[in-house]
Amino acid sequence: MVVLKTLVAFFVFWAVIFFGMLVDFGKWLARVILRSRLRITIAFLLVAAGTVVGIGNAISSSASQQLPPQPVVFQHTFHAGQLNLTCVFCHRTAPTQAVAGVPSLEQCMFCHRAIGRERPEVAKLVKAYQAEEPLNWLRINRLPDTAHFEHAAHIRVNISCSVCHGEVQQMEKVTPIRSLKMGDCLGCHRSRGAPTGCSTCHY
Ligand code: HEC
Ligand code: HEC
Ligand code: HEC
Ligand code: HEC
Ligand code: HEC
Repeated sequence: MVVLKTLVAFFVFWAVIFFGMLVDFGKWLARVILRSRLRITIAFLLVAAGTVVGIGNAISSSASQQLPPQPVVFQHTFHAGQLNLTCVFCHRTAPTQAVAGVPSLEQCMFCHRAIGRERPEVAKLVKAYQAEEPLNWLRINRLPDTAHFEHAAHIRVNISCSVCHGEVQQMEKVTPIRSLKMGDCLGCHRSRGAPTGCSTCHY
């Protein structure tokens, strides 16, 4: 649609130029342009380049309107729900490090070397593994670089994943349940006597 609109705009533009040449200003413009072939070439190239850039922008802006899907449709409902795998089976570094860690393909292949290979989404996974290409999972929760979060500090005092992330094992698609913005962090820190100095989360 957007491309079509750009093309229509392009033709309308030329129609206007052509019409303009019929009036005096048009004649003058035509005389100036026609004085040298070089100018015509330059004018043409400028318009052509403008059109290409316009179409490029139109395509990229229509693409960015929808977020790309995850590279493989992964279900927490099945793995964490039905199979009842614990969260840290996959998000291994949550109890010990700042980041929870999204599992490597190697960890998925622990089971999928043998299980479910006939399923299309699992086949994608196996293919990426064999090609040694990591899956680029889209991040859902991400703080700005100026703020620092530490999973381990929270797991150590037995705050469960669901307090901040909700019942992920029941979510078809991981969706944030709370803002996890500064006010939200501070609200809990105050009520639990956790540190609130700026340097706790900013350095
Ligand atoms: C502990 C074993 C285990 C691990 C680890 C595991 N899975 Fe699975 N997964 C399964 C089982 C069992 C099935 C069901 C297969 C079937 O019914 O054919 C499954 C099914 C799937 C499916 C297909 C669902 C469908 O309905 O088409 C996908 C996709 C998938 N897993 C992705 C992953 C990814 C990605 C990882 C790594 C982050 C992973 N799995 C780790 C056991 C596991
Ligand atoms: C079999 C492996 C596996 C298990 C078990 C698992 N996860 Fe995940 N988790 C993943 C994968 C793969 C992703 C990235 C794809 C996605 O977002 O669905 C992910 C993404 C997430 C995210 C979003 C990360 C982000 O970008 O912000 C959260 C939060 C999360 N998991 C929490 C949990 C919780 C809580 C549990 C336990 C109830 C759990 N997970 C169990 C594999 C797993
Ligand atoms: C006190 C709140 C809180 C708790 C509890 C918590 N998380 Fe998070 N989680 C966050 C925040 C905030 C981010 C974003 C961090 C960032 O961008 O630096 C995040 C990011 C993530 C991510 C994606 C980035 C990463 O660190 O790998 C995963 C996966 C995740 N959490 C899983 C879990 C799991 C599994 C648990 C339980 C073991 C858990 N979280 C417990 C707040 C929490
Ligand atoms: C549900 C309550 C809760 C929420 C929400 C929460 N925290 Fe915490 N946080 C705590 C508690 C309790 C501690 C203290 C742990 C301890 O005593 O070792 C803590 C400790 C920390 C620490 C380590 C402090 C230190 O010096 O050891 C950091 C960093 C931190 N939180 C950052 C954050 C950020 C950033 C957010 C928001 C994205 C957040 N927290 C949200 C409860 C929470
Ligand atoms: C418990 C953790 C925590 C503490 C303590 C904390 N902040 Fe923040 N702060 C955050 C988080 C998380 C964000 C990013 C999310 C948002 O914009 O709210 C943030 C964002 C900000 C921003 C916005 C800049 C940006 O990166 O978008 C400013 C300014 C700021 N904090 C100042 C402060 C000051 C000053 C203090 C001390 C009085 C303080 N913060 C204490 C967690 C904290």
